[in-house]
Amino acid sequence: MLERSGPPGPPLRISSCSSWLRGEEEPQRHEEHQGLNREKPKISELLEKDAAQQAAPKNSRKLLVKSYGCQMNVYDSARMSDLLEGEGYSEAAREEDADLVVLNTCHIRERASEKIYSELGRLALMKRERREAGRDLTIVVAGCVAQAEGELVLRRQSAVDLVIGPQSLQRLPQLLRRTEQGERVADTDFAVEEKFAGLPQPTRAQIAARGVSAFVTVQEGCDKFCAFCVVPYTRGAEVSRGVKEIISEARRLALSGVREITLIGQNVNAYRGEDEHGRAASLEDLFERLSAIEGLERLRYTTSHPVDMTQGLIDAHASLPKLAPFLHLPVQSGSDRVLREMNRRHDAAFYLDIVARLRRARPDIALSSDFIVGFPGETDRDFEDTLALIRAVDFASTFSFKYSPRPGTPGAEREDQIDEETKRVRLAALQALVEEQRQAFNAATLGRRLPILFEKPGRHEGQIAGKSPYMQAVHAEGDASLIGRLLEVEIVAAGANSLAGTIVSAMESA
Ligand code: 5AD
Ligand code: SF4
Repeated sequence: MLERSGPPGPPLRISSCSSWLRGEEEPQRHEEHQGLNREKPKISELLEKDAAQQAAPKNSRKLLVKSYGCQMNVYDSARMSDLLEGEGYSEAAREEDADLVVLNTCHIRERASEKIYSELGRLALMKRERREAGRDLTIVVAGCVAQAEGELVLRRQSAVDLVIGPQSLQRLPQLLRRTEQGERVADTDFAVEEKFAGLPQPTRAQIAARGVSAFVTVQEGCDKFCAFCVVPYTRGAEVSRGVKEIISEARRLALSGVREITLIGQNVNAYRGEDEHGRAASLEDLFERLSAIEGLERLRYTTSHPVDMTQGLIDAHASLPKLAPFLHLPVQSGSDRVLREMNRRHDAAFYLDIVARLRRARPDIALSSDFIVGFPGETDRDFEDTLALIRAVDFASTFSFKYSPRPGTPGAEREDQIDEETKRVRLAALQALVEEQRQAFNAATLGRRLPILFEKPGRHEGQIAGKSPYMQAVHAEGDASLIGRLLEVEIVAAGANSLAGTIVSAMESA
């Protein structure tokens, strides 16, 4: 039984364990976008909801949610924490203090999945020691490993109490009650429609504790079925949230101090959500609505697929000043033959054309991509084509991976797998090239004045840290009271991983 006593804890902390997807960035301008009505958050509505949530029953159990993989998981982890805080759980600062540990897992590459099982092995040991000392530990596996492996997780690791897929999160409290009766449960049903409606909105205190930059899931799932990827199997078909729900979530975030929102989805630019008139809205429609929300200074989106990169969305980069001049647009390979075999549905020329149109719309746009080396059958010539595409685009940042065969995907069935050594050599060559481009991009910002959104204290006393429009980490001398502000900063030094600047002036239009 859950004990219903004890004081309410602070907002729950989510520890994020890695990140292979990245948010995007935008510049800031003083002028407001013309012709838009500013959308005002309704304070009374929010306060009522907060009061209702804070009146939730209390218990003395402590929770730790560990998030692996992409931003979609970071968002889901926050929602699980909000849900359980509503049930009276409070944050455990350390694993040793937690009565409930949730691993929100990633299945994208073999190494990500295996890491989960080694984490579970460690937690199983902790659970055994706890039991000997007369205390318990509940272990929950959520996310994509849960979805892909279901009951197999329960069989592989007997210490696991609950396996819950990403589409079943709203059922977490009921399922936990079943585990309290000694049941071991796996729930991996797809029920996307229920998911968002069944999840509570965070309170203002919870939002404030998570900082000035927030994710909002607008779309989930993927219909693309790239030959290497597990996502269509773990996250299901593409489903978009309604416009009204998204705008209301964004207004609530803005009212609680959020200044930057990244719209996230496995295929975010395939977004087609229903608006208040029953019409299908696009991502650029959403950005236009979000631009009108008072307090929001920057808008970003990730991750996009090239075939869904419409001219309307490209044009939004020209017409909406709050939309970041940064785009993460994975291409995976520069070889037409490999792109075809990956089932990417476009060739290299198509990608280069999008880049050209984006640069026409927003000349300073910075580009980012994902690459896979060593997809089955990839020749030296194919790999050279990838390097040629990289040289042609000139990326500001990239993520690159050795191909990892994933069970159930067409790529894994192929007999022409590439040996590890070839993958290693190609990855090193690719990373050397993109690193050169990244350093050159950083060095080119020296002496420029950029709008920096300050997010947190810096590493040294008297420093604050934030992000440039192009997703670069920037630090400057400044008081902590400037956190949450968008300030004009002159870049005075470019290091390997961050820029240093001097604050010149405030930029907010509000
Ligand atoms: N092997 C290696 N990398 C992969 N990715 C997805 N599936 C695999 C795989 N099987 C990479 C892609 C994708 C990113 C999120 O992860 O580059 O864009
Ligand atoms: Fe995976 Fe391809 Fe869908 Fe991206 S578009 S999530 S790589 S299947």
